[in-house]
Amino acid sequence: MTAELDTNAQKMVANGKGILAADESTATIKKRFDAIGVESTEANRRDYRELLFRSTEAMQNYISGVILYDETLRQKASDGTPLVALIEQAGALPGIKVDAGAKPLPFCPGETITEGLDGLAGRLKEYRDLGARFAKWRAVIDIAAGIPSRGAIEANAQALARYAALCQEAGIVPIVEPEVLMDGDHSIDRCYAVTEFVLKETFHQLYHQRVRLEGMVLKPNMVVPGKKATVQASVEEVALKTVRVLKNCVPAAVPGIAFLSGGQSDEEATAHLDAMVKLGGLPWALTYSYGRALQAAPQKAWSGKVENVAAAQAAFTHRAEMNSLAAQGLWSP
Ligand code: 13P
Repeated sequence: MTAELDTNAQKMVANGKGILAADESTATIKKRFDAIGVESTEANRRDYRELLFRSTEAMQNYISGVILYDETLRQKASDGTPLVALIEQAGALPGIKVDAGAKPLPFCPGETITEGLDGLAGRLKEYRDLGARFAKWRAVIDIAAGIPSRGAIEANAQALARYAALCQEAGIVPIVEPEVLMDGDHSIDRCYAVTEFVLKETFHQLYHQRVRLEGMVLKPNMVVPGKKATVQASVEEVALKTVRVLKNCVPAAVPGIAFLSGGQSDEEATAHLDAMVKLGGLPWALTYSYGRALQAAPQKAWSGKVENVAAAQAAFTHRAEMNSLAAQGLWSP
């Protein structure tokens, strides 16, 4: 079991490959579909995700794994093939989002705790039987006046560690995602300080829950200024500060770090990853686990129309190829 965990964790961050985060909850995919004027029916959600997983060139060459939502893990393509089988046939690993979302944390206004630990051991067993080989749990840390609090960071880090231990016990590689949001007007240095505290606490809790670092993947935010900050940062500053905080906090035993895009533009997410990999001398693989930065372009190209499927697949393949180049430090604008 341990050897399989380690092997799958390494596969997820294999050179030139990264993860497609297609695990939008029903509420989130509705928001994405609203933006392109598509009704969020079960059939439309299936058609859209089938289009992605049938993008053979992208899936075979640039995608190591796909994070799914519960509904998708159980869905069949229009010809009756399980969507999970399409992912496996392309040589990628199916994964599953297992958290139940971020809920308000009592006495901590503006802060949340990610729920979903109750009954998780049983759900993981079922998910493994359905084909999932890795999972994702997202903790959300917001930056604003007076927050985050130490209590919120500790509670979220402990939940991440409990989740990770349950996953490994079930033979599933945990993606540990402590996301410091880029909403707000804070500086890049405040993002650095909060990210540092959150990562230190996360690895402290992972140690106490006896999580095997060789059999997990970290999914962090990059160190960036808030979206509304008056002073924005260069690609080089983001790369230097992100790598510095990771070197200070993430043990070398972790095989790989797969970033979230978090609301960066498609090209920013690619440029930042490329600049970090170009710095070189890193103890872990760096790659992508992008949702919006891989899907915004294909969603727009598709717009719910069957005659646009090929264009949407081309748009997805292009973003995946650009990020694959970035993960190898080979991208140029
Ligand atoms: P974004 O890349 O859109 O941030 O999504 C990644 C993800 O899985 C967030 O939990």
